Amino acid sequence: MASEKSKVLVIGGTGFLGKKLVKASLREGHATYVFQRRENRFDVNRARLLLRLKERGAILIEGSLSEHESLVCAVKRVDAVIFALSPSHPSKYKIVHAIKEAGNIKTNVVDGKPIGQPSQEEKIDGASLQQLEVEGQQMLEE
Ligand SMILES: NC(=O)c1ccc[n+]([C@@H]2O[C@H](COP(=O)([O-])OP(=O)(O)OC[C@H]3O[C@@H](n4cnc5c(N)ncnc54)[C@H](OP(=O)(O)O)[C@@H]3O)[C@@H](O)[C@H]2O)c1
Repeated sequence: MASEKSKVLVIGGTGFLGKKLVKASLREGHATYVFQRRENRFDVNRARLLLRLKERGAILIEGSLSEHESLVCAVKRVDAVIFALSPSHPSKYKIVHAIKEAGNIKTNVVDGKPIGQPSQEEKIDGASLQQLEVEGQQMLEE
């Protein structure tokens, strides 16, 4: 991300990969927001991890991938969104919808690769990832 500082939202920031991304983003000096999912708010280990990330400077945003408005609010607060769940996780398209509605994210990267470039054979509900990603790209462009 060059030397320019951004506001970065990491969805899945408590995961194995996500927490490394959160720490790297903080090290780079970006204001780093971690999406804290409401469903796990009583999980003690999760709470400890979130506290450690907060102590390092992360900003916690509580919400749920099932609550569109909470996603839109979170996205509106940042310049970049990192989706650190599996690229085949169905909620990815909830993020795409939220990004589209928020209207402030200009780069069409949801999971580390440009939407529209994959060629994986994996299928979700009968559609290939490639089809789904092209749909995601179209949704962002509409
Ligand atoms: N682990 C590896 O060695 C590794 C290496 C390279 C690439 N990857 C890839 O990285 C991706 C993530 O893997 P990971 O190992 O980091 O997974 P993980 O440790 O299981 O973490 C998953 C993250 O997603 C969040 N999450 C799961 N379901 C959610 C939902 N419905 N709503 C909101 N958040 C949800 C979890 O939140 P909670 O903490 O609240 O449950 C957690 O933060 C995968 O595509 C994997 O293939 C993994």
